[in-house]
Amino acid sequence: MFRNVTLYLTLTLAIIVTQVDCAKSPNDILRYSITRYGYPVELHKVTTQDGYILTLVRIPRKSSTAAPVLIIHGLLSSSVDWTVQGPERSFSFLASDAGYDVWLGNVRGNTFSKEHTKLDTKSREYWRFSFHEIGLYDLPAMVDYIRANTSSEVLHYVSHSQGGAVFLIMASLRPAYNRKFASVHLMAPAALIHHGTSPVFYSTSRLDELETLAKVTQTYEFAGRGSNSPINLLDLAHRMGLIPTDLLLTNVWFFAGHHDSINRSIVGEILANTPAGCSVFQLLHFGHNYVAKSFQQYDYGWTENMQRYGSRVPPEYPLQNVTAPVTLYYSAGDNFVPAEDVEELADSLPNVVHKHKIGVRKWNHVDYLFDMTVHRLYRTIVASMTDQRTKRDAK
Ligand SMILES: *[C@@H]1O[C@H](CO)[C@@H](O)[C@H](O)[C@H]1NC(C)=O
Ligand SMILES: *[C@@H]1O[C@H](CO)[C@@H](O)[C@H](O)[C@H]1NC(C)=O
Ligand SMILES: *[C@@H]1O[C@H](CO)[C@@H](O)[C@H](O)[C@H]1NC(C)=O
Repeated sequence: MFRNVTLYLTLTLAIIVTQVDCAKSPNDILRYSITRYGYPVELHKVTTQDGYILTLVRIPRKSSTAAPVLIIHGLLSSSVDWTVQGPERSFSFLASDAGYDVWLGNVRGNTFSKEHTKLDTKSREYWRFSFHEIGLYDLPAMVDYIRANTSSEVLHYVSHSQGGAVFLIMASLRPAYNRKFASVHLMAPAALIHHGTSPVFYSTSRLDELETLAKVTQTYEFAGRGSNSPINLLDLAHRMGLIPTDLLLTNVWFFAGHHDSINRSIVGEILANTPAGCSVFQLLHFGHNYVAKSFQQYDYGWTENMQRYGSRVPPEYPLQNVTAPVTLYYSAGDNFVPAEDVEELADSLPNVVHKHKIGVRKWNHVDYLFDMTVHRLYRTIVASMTDQRTKRDAK
């Protein structure tokens, strides 16, 4: 009887919690991710050439003489992941404390950038994009906006995973953008990934089935959020204690490689907003590139490739055009973006300032955001931004 009462109370509480959560709009979540630590925040809406409306989060430092920094998250992530470890350990706050005007991007399709001037976000047309379009349209729109709004000629760029791929897409296909960066810091850039050993790559043998499933179910959003979405229910079950934190972490390690480096007390915070959703076509594009062992444009199949590209096989991104000064951060323990692949990428880039291999052998793909000691790496990046700015000024 007593246990039933407890269960009843827990469920009631859970329902109240969900209701409260639903009341929180995406914009409120973004503001709170910054103001909860006592920093000022501004939200800016940016519309891309193809009509997607994106939310940029700014921690303003208007009197700063340093170039602003644009921070771009990876697949299924959002700007919130750059704040979730609090002021001592999150890149956003460390950069702000060091005097930088901080701008955090949210790319099309995640919880915070799900609006369009014309398209219904439930339609296939809305979700008909991959990271190709993020690099070609989202990034240039954000860069143009920040340059206009701050009157700064150049920016610093910091990213994780897919955030690196989209930078390389922009810089290779729209080379005029290279001159707009004082320094570029790509952590585990997910461009070449064919040495990946994570179990997620097992599914690359079944990409056609994934595409068919999306078509049949008319579901092109993957792991998106919303009050009744599977991920929100998982989040709820975790908060109720029905799914223990260690079980969640065991699942993360199954895919990312075992490295017990996450502070247990932030796991709930992470799950509140991550994963943040993406398009099925992003997964398919990564899968195709893994199989093709290439960093290339989207594979539409022979017929459509012929029409679009004039060749059966999609063209590779012309990395020789990436003249911005790039620093690469990578590690031996990353089974999504392995060290071999980043080294191969470095050989194709004309202006690699530095290759920074992480010393911790087990350092995995999620450690770039959630490792308890990641602030040490972030401090190195901030120092490098400052150093490259000084060198630039001296020229
Ligand atoms: C920057 O954006 C804000 C918010 O939209 C606006 O109020 C401000 O005038 C803009 N500043 C410049 C210099 O464009
Ligand atoms: C990239 O560079 C090549 C020469 O290396 C040039 O032919 C090509 O036009 C460039 N691509 C773009 C999109 O400008
Ligand atoms: C873990 O996170 C909590 C809450 O943010 C913090 O108080 C604690 O110091 C952290 N522990 C470690 C070992 O970083």
